Amino acid sequence: MSKKITSAAASGTFLIGGDVPVHRLGYGTMRLVGDGAWGEPADPAEAKRVLRRAVDLGVTLIDTADAYGPEIAERLIGETLVPYPAGVVIATKGGITRQGPAKTEYVGRAGYLIQCVEMSLRRLKLERIDLYQLHRIDPRTPLEESLGALKRMQEQGKIRHIGLSEVTPAEIEDAEKIVPIVTVQNRYSLADLRHEETLKYCGLRGIGFLPWYPYAGGKLLKPDYPAAQTLGHIAARHGATIPQLSLAWLLQRSPVLMPIPGTSKVAHLEENVAAAELKLSPEEWAEVETTAKS
Ligand SMILES: NC(=O)c1ccc[n+]([C@@H]2O[C@H](COP(=O)([O-])OP(=O)(O)OC[C@H]3O[C@@H](n4cnc5c(N)ncnc54)[C@H](OP(=O)(O)O)[C@@H]3O)[C@@H](O)[C@H]2O)c1
Repeated sequence: MSKKITSAAASGTFLIGGDVPVHRLGYGTMRLVGDGAWGEPADPAEAKRVLRRAVDLGVTLIDTADAYGPEIAERLIGETLVPYPAGVVIATKGGITRQGPAKTEYVGRAGYLIQCVEMSLRRLKLERIDLYQLHRIDPRTPLEESLGALKRMQEQGKIRHIGLSEVTPAEIEDAEKIVPIVTVQNRYSLADLRHEETLKYCGLRGIGFLPWYPYAGGKLLKPDYPAAQTLGHIAARHGATIPQLSLAWLLQRSPVLMPIPGTSKVAHLEENVAAAELKLSPEEWAEVETTAKS
């Protein structure tokens, strides 16, 4: 199965905010840049090939953030994909600053976020960002100030829709008192169900949910992960791999889920997109879930 060329269209379509259609299986750009989301890619030519190949394979949802590099992932997207093919949606984020590899601080001050939006527009060579996500709620800044700034950018036509990241249902409710929220982006995978309540909340309200770390930060792919052997056998029955099984599980788990697997390699990208066609029976998915919990 991993060698067959599949289009991301096979994953189905989700309407972000009710009016921005994307194929549900997207691509996340954090792994395009250096380790710890810091610095230039190890192989810049391959990074650009990955972006072009994603679009060729029908990926229409590309997730990024100003904090990846910082700035480098957005710059690569602007350099590689402009003019954007019809239907390609760039979802970016702001509100996390980065001081070194895997070293971050949250900043939600209005002036900072407004600058973030302006700089993302410039790097991405866009006049409007279809989906702008507040990367984290800054505990030192009132939510009204952070989301008020994004609301103003929306009113000025610089942002189409607003999303949140790493939030609970209560935080989404607080945010919706300020501005409509159309997506959340939380850590979620077969091996990490900490945000199950948020997923249920989003499912009931038609809010899109972009699960990050679809392989639990790579844990699911490690041969010493306790369930790896059994999951590998289940995947192999379908001619598939554990990354494909993990992505297909997300796609069948809820129609609001839009996985954004990250990779720096074309071969892995092709393998990941092929997961859009992997279908298991309800009994087999139950076996996968039991195995992952064991
Ligand atoms: N909102 C947030 O706070 C937040 C946080 C983290 C990430 N994100 C977003 O979520 C996206 C997904 O997270 P992630 O990329 O860190 O996911 P992940 O679950 O950690 O998986 C990525 C890792 O798996 C490897 N990989 C990918 N496809 C593979 C395959 N088919 N076979 C073997 N290895 C494979 C990649 O290495 P190779 O490069 O070698 O393929 C990379 O090391 C990010 O790109 C980013 O857009 C958001």
